[in-house]
Amino acid sequence: MPDREEVGAALAGIADPSGGGSVLETGRAGGLRLKDGVAGLVLSVDGLTQDVAERLRAEVEVALRRVPRVTGVRIILTADKAAAPAGVAVAQDSAVPGIRRLVAVASGKGGVGKSTVAANLAVALAKRGLAVGLLDADIYGPSVPTLLGIPGRAQLEDGKLLPMTAHGIKALSIGMMMATDKAVIWRGPMAASAMMQMIEQANWGVLDILVIDLPPGTGDIQLTMAQKLKPSGAVVVSTPQDLALIDARRAIAMFNEVKVPVLGMVENMSTFVCPHCGERSDIFGHGGAAALGEGLGVPFLGAVPLTMTLRLASDAGQPGSAPEFAGIAERVAIGLGL
Ligand SMILES: Nc1ncnc2c1ncn2[C@@H]1O[C@H](COP(=O)(O)OP(=O)(O)OP(=O)(O)O)[C@@H](O)[C@H]1O
Ligand SMILES: [Mg+2]
Repeated sequence: MPDREEVGAALAGIADPSGGGSVLETGRAGGLRLKDGVAGLVLSVDGLTQDVAERLRAEVEVALRRVPRVTGVRIILTADKAAAPAGVAVAQDSAVPGIRRLVAVASGKGGVGKSTVAANLAVALAKRGLAVGLLDADIYGPSVPTLLGIPGRAQLEDGKLLPMTAHGIKALSIGMMMATDKAVIWRGPMAASAMMQMIEQANWGVLDILVIDLPPGTGDIQLTMAQKLKPSGAVVVSTPQDLALIDARRAIAMFNEVKVPVLGMVENMSTFVCPHCGERSDIFGHGGAAALGEGLGVPFLGAVPLTMTLRLASDAGQPGSAPEFAGIAERVAIGLGL
């Protein structure tokens, strides 16, 4: 049985968002019950906006789950007065406890810069003050450890994977669990379950957003992710080139089918900026993603030029150099109601 005192101590560490001390001191949390390892309590959300209330609920849940021998958590929310309406409540909360929004970064075609966009987007969202995680769902070709410059191995704590921290975000990748030169030969369903484990059997703590860097295409991993995790939105990355755009259209169609809202498209490698003379050339064309998006009713989130700086920064594990991601992150955050 979990210890009442330990549970109390966990709650004493959570501040009441309205001030006045911890949730225990202000009476916001009460009616604590411990039965068969399940910790139950009543949480009053009086005077809190929907967003703040949800964040508090997630914080309490995560704190209780960390208490030794707690196997389940039941929180009953009560409000005497109706909660104030949230700012822009468009997006659904995620199905994963403690994580408010899941965002999938996808493309139909490989090599268009999904991982680069996912890592830089995650860092740009964190710069907006949000608590952000980055999950590398590319089991066969993980690139997040390189993009964030994280060489080590992820640790286990109480049987749960601990995400690693870099550049102000948390991250997990299969590349943090095995040697990089080892071939990963897994069947589709196994790869999909490895991805699910990195979400469900990992201790992400409280996150505003978990960005999921998907492998290319519309296979097992993408479908499992979309159906089981029901992300709040998807970002589709494409180059302006026709071939990439045809595949982007497929990715958008898949998300429509599984009812995941497409937050918008990012046009990557949009314009090449010569590092020597600064001349701009549209190697893969320009404006194709915006045009496709317009045709399909999908918002345009922004264009990222093809630059030597971004390529070098990506290889060196230094995201955050390209200024274009600030605008993209702003539009994504708005799309998620954050
Ligand atoms: N805007 C850019 N400017 C310069 N280099 C870029 C840009 N975007 C991506 N790259 C480079 O292109 C290569 C492929 O990018 P990335 O790995 O992000 O693509 P991906 O779509 O995730 O690939 P995969 O389909 O294999 O997962 C990397 O070497 C990356 O550094
Ligand atoms: Mg990738």
